Amino acid sequence: MSAAHSVLILTGPNLNLLGQREPSIYGTATLADIEAGCHERATRYGLSMTFKQSNHEGELVEMIQQAINTHDAIIINGGAYTHTSVAIHDALRMVGVPILEVHLSNPHQREEFRHQSFITPVATGLICGLGQDSYLLAIDAVASLLNKEV
Ligand code: DQA
Repeated sequence: MSAAHSVLILTGPNLNLLGQREPSIYGTATLADIEAGCHERATRYGLSMTFKQSNHEGELVEMIQQAINTHDAIIINGGAYTHTSVAIHDALRMVGVPILEVHLSNPHQREEFRHQSFITPVATGLICGLGQDSYLLAIDAVASLLNKEV
């Protein structure tokens, strides 16, 4: 795989408070812990990684737009915007690179309003319910997908 391959990891609202936010659902790892784990895993594959979080829908849309021609894959945990955001759906449609949707919890086991995702229809794959391993497995998937492209 080319060392130039780069993955953008985006995380949405309220996930900046991981560690203190509903630990029985989301675990005790902080977002910084998850970022460190992702960095370690991406490095193993020779992938460069950009890790960003925002509580704002428009900012997430702008980050996705900026990924066009900049990143080779996107891993996204849209948080609650997963279930509401046509704007994030539309932005993801434009990027033309593999998209992995991730969630710490398994939204399908939870309230009905979490069963719909605006990201799934534009995602290459979905990994959920595995805590921070959801992110790490998404990096494994990105490495595998980009490897097949070469
Ligand atoms: C989440 C699941 C969403 O339903 C929720 O709104 C979140 C976190 C997860 O990672 O499990 O903020 O995306």
